[in-house]
Amino acid sequence: MKKSDVVQIILGEKIKNPPSSQAVQAFAPTNIALCKYWGKRNRELNLPVTSSLSISLGNRGATVTLQVNQRQQDIITLNGAAVHEGSIFYQRAKEFLDLFRQGHYFDLHSTSNIPIAAGLASSACGFAAIVLALDKLFAWELSSPQLSILARLGSGSASRSIYQGFVKWHAGIEPNGMDSYAETLPHDLPGLMIGLCIVNDKEKMLSSREAMQRTVETSLLYRVWPEKMAEDLILMTQAIANQDFSLLGVTAESNALAMHATMQSAWPPIVYSLPETLAMMHEVWQLRAGGVEVYFTQDAGPNLKLLFLEKDVNVLQERFPNMEIIAQ
Ligand code: PMV
Repeated sequence: MKKSDVVQIILGEKIKNPPSSQAVQAFAPTNIALCKYWGKRNRELNLPVTSSLSISLGNRGATVTLQVNQRQQDIITLNGAAVHEGSIFYQRAKEFLDLFRQGHYFDLHSTSNIPIAAGLASSACGFAAIVLALDKLFAWELSSPQLSILARLGSGSASRSIYQGFVKWHAGIEPNGMDSYAETLPHDLPGLMIGLCIVNDKEKMLSSREAMQRTVETSLLYRVWPEKMAEDLILMTQAIANQDFSLLGVTAESNALAMHATMQSAWPPIVYSLPETLAMMHEVWQLRAGGVEVYFTQDAGPNLKLLFLEKDVNVLQERFPNMEIIAQ
């Protein structure tokens, strides 16, 4: 099954809707996984091995403006600068638009207000915002699960960026992935804060896509990852339903460390952490030992995201002066 088959199932006759001649705009928040998506069971459709759970970052994300152009070529800009045709970014966006274009070409302007190089999934909010913009441009009026499935075809974690708040992406079991979409969880955790700590802003050494695949193929520890995820998803769901910040923090930190353990046991090994990353982990553990409840999570990069409560903002801002804080 190809991506275009999934688009056909979802859009049916709507694929022929004429686009509006007006520019449309859509925003999607970026998200941070608390229980990580790590490993695909189908690489073409970005179908995951396990379900995953994230939190969206409110008004931090991508805004996409989309309009049909008459030039037989997509024009893409990112934060106001033209994106070169030869770049990976351009290619990924173009291939995604190919699924929907029906002979049309687009002006696509994407702006993001997430700190550059914070190791935040910019592709997640980017693809989700493109799908939301396409839905407006072609007046598809799709449901949220349908939008989530289309966003997943761009990037797995984009399936979660269709929603705000706590979000669960169901792995699903169907080969065509029609049951693999995200849904919002009807709870919040008052006072939850997220701190973005940049320890290194250099380009990633290995994309999450490649790292995931290598881990699935070569890591012995990956064999127990689905078990770990099954346990953590139960704990995280409980933590959210009971507004239990301690359980949320312990589960998120343990889940991130376990994901990185699967990578370290891949071959060639994948180690995203830098000495500064480890130093910061030790600072977090020290703070915790001293009674400040703070936890970290880490994605496919060296930077950490801290989880803490509003009451501890001052202590944490003092300890990590460069940290950018996002309130939920
Ligand atoms: O959606 P991708 O292909 O960028 O993969 C995201 C992988 C992690 O960020 C490490 C985990 C996650 O669930 O977001």
